[in-house]
Amino acid sequence: FLWGVGSSAYQTEGAWDKDGKGPSIWDAFTHVKGKVLRDETGDSACDGYHKVKDDIQLLKELKVNHYLLSISWARIMPTGIRTEQVNEKGIQFYNDTINGLLESSITPIVSLYHWDLPQVLQEKYGGWQNISMINYFNDYANLCFEKFGDRVKHWITFSDPWAVAEKGYETGEHAPGLKLGGCGAYNAAHHIIKTHAKVWHSYNNTWRSEQHGMVGISLTSGWGEPVDPHSQADIDAAERYIQFHLGWFANPIYRGDYPEAMKNYVGRKSAQQGLGTSRLPTFSVQEKSYIKGTSDFLGIGHFTTRYVTQKSSPFLQGSSYNTDHDLAELVDPKWPAPGYEWLYSVPWGFRRLLNFIKTQYGNPLIYVTQNGVSEKAPCAQLCDAWRIEYLQGHLNEMLKALNDGVNIKAYTAWSLLDKFEWNKGFSERFGLYYIDFQNKNKTRYPKASVDYYKNVIRANGFPDPREVEKWRQKAMDTCSITHQLLDTDSLITHMEMVTEIVLPTIFTLCILISIVLLLFFLQKHS
Ligand SMILES: *[C@@H]1O[C@H](CO)[C@@H](O)[C@H](O)[C@H]1NC(C)=O
Ligand SMILES: *[C@@H]1O[C@H](CO)[C@@H](O)[C@H](O)[C@H]1NC(C)=O
Repeated sequence: FLWGVGSSAYQTEGAWDKDGKGPSIWDAFTHVKGKVLRDETGDSACDGYHKVKDDIQLLKELKVNHYLLSISWARIMPTGIRTEQVNEKGIQFYNDTINGLLESSITPIVSLYHWDLPQVLQEKYGGWQNISMINYFNDYANLCFEKFGDRVKHWITFSDPWAVAEKGYETGEHAPGLKLGGCGAYNAAHHIIKTHAKVWHSYNNTWRSEQHGMVGISLTSGWGEPVDPHSQADIDAAERYIQFHLGWFANPIYRGDYPEAMKNYVGRKSAQQGLGTSRLPTFSVQEKSYIKGTSDFLGIGHFTTRYVTQKSSPFLQGSSYNTDHDLAELVDPKWPAPGYEWLYSVPWGFRRLLNFIKTQYGNPLIYVTQNGVSEKAPCAQLCDAWRIEYLQGHLNEMLKALNDGVNIKAYTAWSLLDKFEWNKGFSERFGLYYIDFQNKNKTRYPKASVDYYKNVIRANGFPDPREVEKWRQKAMDTCSITHQLLDTDSLITHMEMVTEIVLPTIFTLCILISIVLLLFFLQKHS
């Protein structure tokens, strides 16, 4: 079993315009006021671009088997178009990263797309709304296979394409910030699925025989549980919840077409609107067979669970992806939610999701690519007891799913560092390591969960409960020591401020007072 941690390019690298990198849609989006909380940007983020060695050191200390990272398309192809420009410095950067990992016996798992489309492709073609993305992305993927594929054996085409489609082109919360209600998400997803299939076939036809790697997709999905398990309407609504998230992408790839529930509901809503065809695009027969079976493994991201009930939305409300499925999501107020109130910790939902995948998609090989919890704390919170609890709960349920016969090969804790969290800026923290983003140094401080996760990895799971309790206790003790170190650090910063601001001020004041006294003295004696 493989244990690892993950991160993504835009969220951590910074250096947004260094060494020939082109702008991405996230650079453009964050540079517009009002798009991100407090107008924060990923311009420097964790400064990961300059801290590859430091971060590999952290990974070595954790003793992870793998590290999941993403490549910034615009860093190696500034306009996104291979025939226009390839940026050797960008290639060098990822070569150094990959080599550094391998020298430390850490397997790189590389995602080609974690949301940072080159801005030129957005401006010229409308990004994922345009079918031409298929070929541009395929060129990019082939360059990556050519340059890195001798060493990288695990490729992810897209990380969480659901968010790309829904938040990027439907609600506009994410870059490129388009609100193309009703069609935007479906069209983006349609092109992404076709692109994924094309890239898998490219690898299969051109690179596989020589490089012997795997190509998969990483889908992020919550679990939906019926509010009333005896109500068929609720059971169907909960099923739709999953099908509109996970099934939207997994069904075409594993079964050859969109889920029936999506085809039915979007089709019916479109007809009610008086549209001649469904807003959900269709695949031709050839496309279906071309797409089916194009994943050597399934990456799964999972964070939280919802109770789901049937709720018809009148079509007059305006049609959108978010009303097409006729359901309402509920939460149990008893579920812990340490961060923003979307991420409730519900470990049992994880096991159910994993079992659903096993039965729906023919027990595919699963790599858990994202699982973790955030916090909203504005200041240093190194003793993250709730993260330890979240990890323990979710790992336990994952291990139960393994016993259920689910074919899970790897677990990736999300994420290595506190990082730029999209439209939430730096206010939402997922890291095992804490970063003070105010400080230019971007020093990494271990939270208690680092110590805990290290033990999980060393033991390859959980031994007896008493031992695990000892890990928790020790992690909490260690964190309070680190906490003191962090306090001392901020004290040093504070003392620097004292010398920089207070001393000159006092000095100036003394001179002023002396002048006044001197004048006074002179006046008296004249
Ligand atoms: C795709 O891009 C081409 C070239 O710029 C353009 O002519 C076409 O209208 C675009 N299609 C969409 C759906 O935006
Ligand atoms: C930043 O890092 C440098 C070099 O490691 C160190 O000398 C300096 O004290 C640090 N500054 C702060 C404010 O942490």
